[in-house]
Amino acid sequence: MTDNIWQRKHILDVDDFSREDLEKVLQTTLVMKDVLSRPLKKVPSLRGRIVANMFYEPSTRTLSSFELAAKHLSADVINLSAASSSYVKGESLIDTMSTLEALGADVVVMRHSQSGAPYAAARHLKGSMINAGDGWHAHPSQALLDLFTIRQYKGQTDGLKVSIIGDIKHSRVARSNIWSLTKMGSEVTICGPQTLLPNCLSRNGDIFPEVKCTLDIGEALADADVVMMLRLQKERQQSGLLPSVGEYIADYQLNEARLVLAKKDAIVMHPGPVNEDLEIKRDVAYGKQSVIQEQVTNGVATRMALLYLLCGREEI
Ligand code: CP
Repeated sequence: MTDNIWQRKHILDVDDFSREDLEKVLQTTLVMKDVLSRPLKKVPSLRGRIVANMFYEPSTRTLSSFELAAKHLSADVINLSAASSSYVKGESLIDTMSTLEALGADVVVMRHSQSGAPYAAARHLKGSMINAGDGWHAHPSQALLDLFTIRQYKGQTDGLKVSIIGDIKHSRVARSNIWSLTKMGSEVTICGPQTLLPNCLSRNGDIFPEVKCTLDIGEALADADVVMMLRLQKERQQSGLLPSVGEYIADYQLNEARLVLAKKDAIVMHPGPVNEDLEIKRDVAYGKQSVIQEQVTNGVATRMALLYLLCGREEI
């Protein structure tokens, strides 16, 4: 694979991705899946490159898959968390970037609780920045691995009915998925209690006029090809956005009885981590229609594709 024609320096969100950009990521991810099917899951594409994973927020899937992705591509990897870095001693974001740059980092992968932090940090970096999730704003690599997984199971995305259900308002996953799925021709419906829907979407207004919005999970599930459940962020209950977890379960939990409303061959997705028996029943999360584990697996190939497209330099 030699046609590394990627022009962009950073991956901060998918809002500026064209359909061609998304196709390029999907095709490259397919090549990486092939690499991962080999007995020796390693190629020299990023030999001599340094990838720094800087996670100011906890992560299981994203951090471990970026680390594996970089290692499968033969990069050297630095992993830093807020707790293990000099952030706890007052080091600024810009100072951390300068330090990583002095250490030779070619790519910084950053997760941060503040929306926009990777954008600010990228301005102080000669290398590339990948946003691994910032506040409520964006999670581009999650949206891309979700897109790849949908295509893997459904063959195409045009005209697919994708229903995203749960805490949309606080979800960076929902926001990035809406950008990529609408660009790929899917019909996106969002569903949740009024207090967990963003205003701009709940009026079918400003940013995504084509996104449908409903408070009724039955309506969202009816004939859905893809059901994407989101984590209920329990801390929201304290802030008065939910009357009670019990009511949320009664109105919005995905269980077997509700899943029959979707198409027979609908797939069930969740970015994780899952609150089992809260937003989704455990037997549905691990049931035959669930592709949640495949999403995790596809995370490695997708992140290999992103690293390769940003700074790969040898044939695969
Ligand atoms: N989906 C996701 O971002 O999971 P982690 O928080 O475990 O990385």
